[in-house]
Amino acid sequence: MEVIKEKARMRETVEQAKAHGLVVGLVPTMGFFHEGHQELMRRARADCDLVVVTLFVNPTQFTPGEDFKDYPRDFDRDRRMVESVGVDYIFNPEVPEMYPDGFATHVEVEDLSDLMCGCHRPGHFRGVATVVSKLFNIVPAQKAYFGQKDAQQLAVLRRLVADLDFAVEVIAVPTVREESGLAMSSRNTYLGPAERQDALVLHAALETAAGLIDAGVRDSSIIASAMEDVISTLPSVNLEYIAICDNIFLQPVSELEGQVLIALAARVGKARLIDNMVFEIE
Ligand code: PAJ
Repeated sequence: MEVIKEKARMRETVEQAKAHGLVVGLVPTMGFFHEGHQELMRRARADCDLVVVTLFVNPTQFTPGEDFKDYPRDFDRDRRMVESVGVDYIFNPEVPEMYPDGFATHVEVEDLSDLMCGCHRPGHFRGVATVVSKLFNIVPAQKAYFGQKDAQQLAVLRRLVADLDFAVEVIAVPTVREESGLAMSSRNTYLGPAERQDALVLHAALETAAGLIDAGVRDSSIIASAMEDVISTLPSVNLEYIAICDNIFLQPVSELEGQVLIALAARVGKARLIDNMVFEIE
C-alpha cells in the first residue's frame, strides 16, 4: 500500500494501470474510518484490479461555523484500516494541492443541492460536487463507490456524472449499521453514551415507516407524522427534516409509488446525524 500526495503522480499511476488493461476503483472519503468506509473498500477490492482510496477532509463542503477544524482525523489508524482491506493506494493531498491560490471554479448541481440537507448546509453540495469532480479527474477510475448512507449526496453525484459525462460508473453501497441500528458515521464520535442511546430513535423512526409501508400505508403524511411522533419522545433529538421523496429528483411524494426515499436529519448534542431507507413500492 502506498500513500500518494501529489495529484500528477496519482493520475499518472492510474493512467498507467488502465493502459495495462486494469479496472480501477475509486473510494472517496474524508477519513476517520469505520466499517461503513471499509465496506466500500471491500466492494471495490472485489470488483476492481486496483483500488484507490482518497482521504481528504474537503474544506469547501463545510459551511461557516461547521466542524471542519474539529473533524476527527487519525491518519495512522486510517492507514492500518485501509491496509487490512488490501487497498493499493491512498491519495492524501494537502489543501493547497487541491485548492491552490487563485482557485476559482466550482461545480453546482442545481435544484438537488438546495433541498433537504442543502437547506441546512448552504454550499455543502457545491463543495462535494466540486471536490468529487476533481477526484474523478485526478483518479480517472472506471468505477466509484459511494454509501447509501448519504442518499442525497448519491443523488447529486449521479446527476453530476450524467450531466458532465464523466466516464465513471457510480456504485451505491448499502448503509452499514451498528448492531443497535445506528448508522455508522465518523461524526458518531461526537456522541456521549446517553446521546448515542437517544440517536437510536432515528433508526426507530425509519423502522416505524417500514412497518407502516408493510401494512399497506401509502399516504406520506401519515408516515411522516408517525415518524415525528417517535422522534418527539426524545427532547434531546432535534429533528431538522423528514423527506419522503422519489430517489432521483428528490421531489416530495404524497402517495408512495415506485422507488421512494425516506430520509431524515437531526441534531443530537454536537452531532448532526442523517439516516435513510429506500423502499420499492409494488
Ligand atoms: P465521508 O463522510 O468520509 O464518507 C465517505 C463515503 O463513505 C461516502 O460515500 C459515504 O456515503 C460512505 N459512508 C459513510 N458512512 C457509511 C455507512 N454507515 N455505510 C455505508 N457507507 C457509508 O461522504 C464524504 O466523506 C465526502 O462528502 C466525500 C464524498 C468524500 C467528498 O468529500
